[in-house]
Amino acid sequence: MSIVVTGGAGFIGANFLLDWFRSQDETIINVDKLTYAGNLENLASLQGDARHQFVRGDIGDSTLMTRLLAQHTPRAVINFAAESHVDRSIHGPEEFIQTNIVGTFRLLEAVRQYWDGLSAADRVLFRFLHVSTDEVYGSLELDDPAFTEDRRYEPNSPYSASKAASDHLVRAYHHTYGLPVLTTNCSNNYGPFQFPEKLIPLVIHNALAGKPLPVYGDGQQVRDWLYVGDHCRAIQRILEIGRVGETYNIGGGSQRVNLNVVHTLCRELDEFQPRSDGKSYQEQIAFVKDRPGHDRRYAIDATKIDRQLGWKPAETFESGMQKTVRWYLDNQPWVQNVTSGTYRSWVEKHYCA
Ligand code: NAD
Ligand code: DAU
Repeated sequence: MSIVVTGGAGFIGANFLLDWFRSQDETIINVDKLTYAGNLENLASLQGDARHQFVRGDIGDSTLMTRLLAQHTPRAVINFAAESHVDRSIHGPEEFIQTNIVGTFRLLEAVRQYWDGLSAADRVLFRFLHVSTDEVYGSLELDDPAFTEDRRYEPNSPYSASKAASDHLVRAYHHTYGLPVLTTNCSNNYGPFQFPEKLIPLVIHNALAGKPLPVYGDGQQVRDWLYVGDHCRAIQRILEIGRVGETYNIGGGSQRVNLNVVHTLCRELDEFQPRSDGKSYQEQIAFVKDRPGHDRRYAIDATKIDRQLGWKPAETFESGMQKTVRWYLDNQPWVQNVTSGTYRSWVEKHYCA
């Protein structure tokens, strides 16, 4: 038995693989394009482990995906692969359209053809799990109820619009062709191996480097933070017992304004690695120009996944943040390789020589 995972060298995908192999031996074929966000160092502990088969490739490469599916006959495909950073989508949306929309479409086509060729029994058991985001629902006012699965899609950035389009394609492949799909819409993740362009790892990195901690606008935007390990457990649960054709919201039940997140990080760092001048890292906070079209608030109502599948986050915001700050302090060589681009030279040498 095996499953295909796409984007498994990125932040959430890598955490998913590492968690998966802690509890089982089923092989994962990990297809990742190794964009700037893909880093095989995240999976260094799996080196030489036959349960993990890495293939550098693009989900939009129909020939490759068709061949891999025929060769490995997986019982499921989990699609993490995406361009995932909102700010990058504002500066250059093209890649987001290519990977998140065209790539997901081509992947769905390859999977549909593979699934069509399976025996009746295997067709029933097969799953295509698409990992998406709460950003497809748009922005909430402060007193609005949290997003349920029935919430209308109102994406506001090129990133969220491209993810929304991919969700619609996945839905259409179920309704039109009967493909057994599952879709997840998750809130903001944090934890080990997150690329330091996203708020939490960026603030930790800049704080330690003595750089400004950039807070967009008034810093009063609200996100619902979830420790990545909890997201990975939710995906495993949905893969095994989720109801085909349904979508599941996943959230941390931890709404925090951005400024509060930055203050929490500063407090943790003040305790674990105080500044040499005895001052708080809060001194480094700098309010900067806001992100265009910045969504004010996201919040997930995770009642459905709790009631139907018995999933709840195990980490609180405080315990997850403490683990995360500790991880970054203990893994500074990883941070340095990522921020200096050393891991990119390795990719070029290894794959392009
Ligand atoms: P990431 O940017 O860290 O990783 C994305 C991975 O996909 C990278 O390894 C990259 O190399 C790979 N990739 C990109 N384009 C590809 C392509 N065309 N073919 C194959 N591989 C490709 O992203 P992440 O934060 O780990 O997010 C993973 C998924 O979860 C995404 O679909 C994202 O939309 C979704 N999501 C993320 C969050 C979050 O807070 N990070 C929250 C909810 C949902
Ligand atoms: O909600 C889920 C989404 O969470 C995922 O779908 C995305 O892939 C993921 O990147 C994340 O999107 P955000 O835009 O919410 O994450 P980011 O870490 O970029 O920003 C979090 C908040 O912090 C947001 O309100 C913008 C703000 N911010 C971000 C950065 C990078 C700052 O104030 N300063 C910064 O330097």
